[in-house]
Amino acid sequence: MKIGVPREIAANERRIAAIPETVTRFVKAGAQVLVEKGAGVESCSSDDAFAQAGATLVDTATVWGADLLVKVQPPTVAEAQRMRDGACLVSHLQAWNSPELLAALNAKKISAFSLEQVPRTTRAQTMDVLSSQATIAGYKAVLLAADRAPRILPMLVTAAGTLTPGTVLVLGAGVAGLSAIGTAKRLGAIVEAFDVRAAAAEQVESLGAKFIGKELLSKEGEGQGGYAKQLSQDAEERNRQLIAQHAKKALIVIATAAIPKRRAPLLLPRSVVETMQPGAVVVDLAAETGGNCELTKLGEDVVHHGVTILGPEKLAATIPTHASQMFARNVLAFVINMTKDGKLGEFALNFDDDIVQASCATHAGTTRSAA
Ligand code: NAI
Repeated sequence: MKIGVPREIAANERRIAAIPETVTRFVKAGAQVLVEKGAGVESCSSDDAFAQAGATLVDTATVWGADLLVKVQPPTVAEAQRMRDGACLVSHLQAWNSPELLAALNAKKISAFSLEQVPRTTRAQTMDVLSSQATIAGYKAVLLAADRAPRILPMLVTAAGTLTPGTVLVLGAGVAGLSAIGTAKRLGAIVEAFDVRAAAAEQVESLGAKFIGKELLSKEGEGQGGYAKQLSQDAEERNRQLIAQHAKKALIVIATAAIPKRRAPLLLPRSVVETMQPGAVVVDLAAETGGNCELTKLGEDVVHHGVTILGPEKLAATIPTHASQMFARNVLAFVINMTKDGKLGEFALNFDDDIVQASCATHAGTTRSAA
């Protein structure tokens, strides 16, 4: 089997879906790995490092002719059209967003696997790109905010007097939120967090942060598979009032609240931003799905009433070496799971495997449930 690792062409995408370490593992499992020349440069894996790991460095046309393509970003329609008939693709797909891509994949009878649809189960943890990338994004969000803030985060007792610690409010305590909490704690901040899932309260407290609004938690916030679900308007309003009280005291708000396949919940309206401290910073990790803050603009920095609101895009890609390392290991585990006995000959797709079933978006010319 030939595995192709193309260069990512999306703007600001510096990650790659294989690293020299995973190339060696693929080669040991019997595959030939084709890496597009220069594909790893942005994530600090040189062509030489890939060659030493056993890859063959190839041009764009050759890489897209492989039997299995592994990628970070969904392919463009033009890229999908370069694939050979009946090939496999393992990537982020966000297929529900792109009927044109699904049509292009089906026209070529591609078996396309959507990494963001891998179930959040214990067995699939090693393949969970949502978690690995959210961990990086949560960490970087705090660093971005700390860099923009006019105050420091830790308490400092100095000859010039005492500097009081800053408060970081984290909205949404999933993987990114918990990573942000850990990072803010390590920087010495006072950390508060809110989520609609009761399970999150214990996780927040185990990191030494304060969970706000325990009294508002109910079963209503818990959806399927551990995800949150859309709340009633009343519950949303109660939560917004609680958040408003805490946001006005915060130096930094890291907003990560998300509901699968829906617009992000609106937690910080303009009126609340206008009550925040001058110099406060909001980093809205939900910017790509509409934002938790009313003023967020994707990919832009907004300053309103002295408050800076950042809506970063592809934040994990700004730490490309570690993000790629984690992503590539997730991809390796996903691909090996589809083989018999870990040997990379032909895939025998087993749709009885819940991971294969849940993540397969297209196969043999038809769109499947993962799309
Ligand atoms: P996500 O990115 O879908 O959402 C982020 C957070 O926002 C979640 O904690 C969610 O509860 C929260 N949220 C949604 N609406 C909100 C609102 N109105 N106000 C405040 N917070 C709100 O979540 P993520 O990080 O992808 O995790 C989803 C679930 O998957 C979690 O239960 C997590 O523990 C679970 N998980 C399980 C894994 C496993 O067992 N292998 C691995 C990773 C995550």
